[in-house]
Amino acid sequence: MEFFEVLRRRRSVRRFQDRPVPEEFVEKLLESAFLSPSSFNRRPWHFIVVDNKEKLKALSKAKLGASGLATAPLAIVVTADESRSDVWIEDASIAAEHIQLAAFDLGLSSFWVQIRNRMHSEEKTAEEYVRELLNIPENYRVLCIIGVGYPAEKKPPHGEDVFEWEKVSKNEFGMPFKA
Ligand SMILES: Cc1cc2nc3c(=O)[nH]c(=O)nc-3n(C[C@H](O)[C@H](O)[C@H](O)COP(=O)(O)O)c2cc1C
Repeated sequence: MEFFEVLRRRRSVRRFQDRPVPEEFVEKLLESAFLSPSSFNRRPWHFIVVDNKEKLKALSKAKLGASGLATAPLAIVVTADESRSDVWIEDASIAAEHIQLAAFDLGLSSFWVQIRNRMHSEEKTAEEYVRELLNIPENYRVLCIIGVGYPAEKKPPHGEDVFEWEKVSKNEFGMPFKA
């Protein structure tokens, strides 16, 4: 598929078919992440591939808005070593989005589950919950989880309405880019 079509047609899907993601596709998703740019090329990330049903079910309870992980055959937990980069959030975010775009190009769908800065309960952060569940060392921060699989829902591609030209300035903030 043409790259711009991938951008236009990728939509967040939160219900998946009961069908595994082929192993070669899982590797392609990780390769797409490894192709990400990163500050000073420090590559602070570490990815945890989860296909264990019990663990996926537990991850779906990490916070509100994670329940779609219960039907996903695959989740990639995106973490980064904050001691290696002060901009690990940016580095890990780009890698996560590479995974989403590559997934769509492979005929899969995905959605982003935000973990950083989110709560699991009143007492526990979503990050602590995921850290305990997957045994993640303290220096690795958990940014998000990308749920991946074959879609069980159909979403229309993005239309022209997302092109918010009023949010673009020319030469100076507030000066219209398009008349
Ligand atoms: C930083 C970030 C956090 C997000 N967190 C969640 C989340 O926790 N749960 C969820 O279902 N979707 C989450 N999403 C997906 C957005 O809801 C989705 O991308 C947005 O509604 C636009 O829809 P689209 O992806 O179909 O274009 C997140 C997306 C981003 C970029």
